[in-house]
Amino acid sequence: HPSNLQMEECSNLSRANCRAKGGAPGFKVAILGAAGGIGQPLALLMKMNPLVSVLHLYDVVNAPGVTADVSHMDTGAVVRGFLGQPQLESALTGMDLVVIPAGVPRKPGMTRDDLFNINAGIVRTLCEGIAKCCPNAIVNLISNPVNSTVPIAAEVFKKAGTYDPKRLLGVTTLDVVRANTFVAEVLGLDPREVDVPVVGGHAGVTILPLLSQVKPPCPFTAEETEYLTNRIQNGGTEVVEAKAGAGSATLSMAYAAAKFADTCLRGLRGDAGIVECSFVASQVTELPFFASKVRLGRTGAEEIYQLGPLNEYERVGLEKAKKELAGSIQKGVSFIRK
Ligand code: NAI
Repeated sequence: HPSNLQMEECSNLSRANCRAKGGAPGFKVAILGAAGGIGQPLALLMKMNPLVSVLHLYDVVNAPGVTADVSHMDTGAVVRGFLGQPQLESALTGMDLVVIPAGVPRKPGMTRDDLFNINAGIVRTLCEGIAKCCPNAIVNLISNPVNSTVPIAAEVFKKAGTYDPKRLLGVTTLDVVRANTFVAEVLGLDPREVDVPVVGGHAGVTILPLLSQVKPPCPFTAEETEYLTNRIQNGGTEVVEAKAGAGSATLSMAYAAAKFADTCLRGLRGDAGIVECSFVASQVTELPFFASKVRLGRTGAEEIYQLGPLNEYERVGLEKAKKELAGSIQKGVSFIRK
């Protein structure tokens, strides 16, 4: 006979499942790589998001532990854990939004491209699962190098016949979050009042802050422009070096990922005027993918905005960014087509 405790747990579980199945308002979100440095705080933040009714936490290690922990938070979302490849399909089935921070992070001295060999294969496998189990989900791709993993995901979805460019979004929000913070520091403002568009991609010189378009409008000296551009482009490396071998940005990244996921969910809900920067399939430049401001709606990235007027410094930066981006995109595409 089951003990009282087991019975109680059992009935709690089934009620939770009922609540989730009974169409509690909200969206179903999966995090792939949920036990990692980004995944854990991201799971915490998504569990706090009132737009989330069901939260699936998938990883190849430690998913049950993170799930048990996060599931005790007294917020609305029902949390379920999934461990290892055999449970990937259950983790993905029925999801509206899939956030992917799975993969290895940088150590000091590494570029994001050094991660390609390991992370490319991980992203391919996860995207094959998405194509099979939730082909209509919005995908937020965090795993680096984003400039190559987004093209990899696109090729996987094309092969599977499920590709919709509007639903595949590379997460560059951390670059914007850093830019807002660093610019606010220089201007002596609250970062919440500052809006810096960051375009291009998510690595080194491909990260192109458009300081001439900062809101509130503000002229920067040549020194300020140089300092801010360098600091924004190397913000990730600043954290990698400070952590000295213990990984890359995880907490600020989880914050940025949660902010971007919330933006996507509000778009899915039909809110008007939801605009964020993201690395997407694009016709803004001659490159097939580019980060710029996009408007998010019920079907994903519904509108991609042009870059607007650039100053000379930004035009030079754009040419450099495009050169490096072209190679990273091609590397991703060839990984699947080869
Ligand atoms: P981490 O190593 O702490 O966590 C990664 C997690 O992915 C681990 O729990 C690992 O078990 C899991 N994982 C590995 N293979 C998997 C698979 N096949 N399926 C599911 N899960 C798998 O790394 P961290 O710090 O969380 O970083 C994750 C990724 O995010 C890295 O590629 C990093 O470069 C990237 N990143 C991206 C940023 C961006 O702005 N887009 C910023 C910071 C990091």
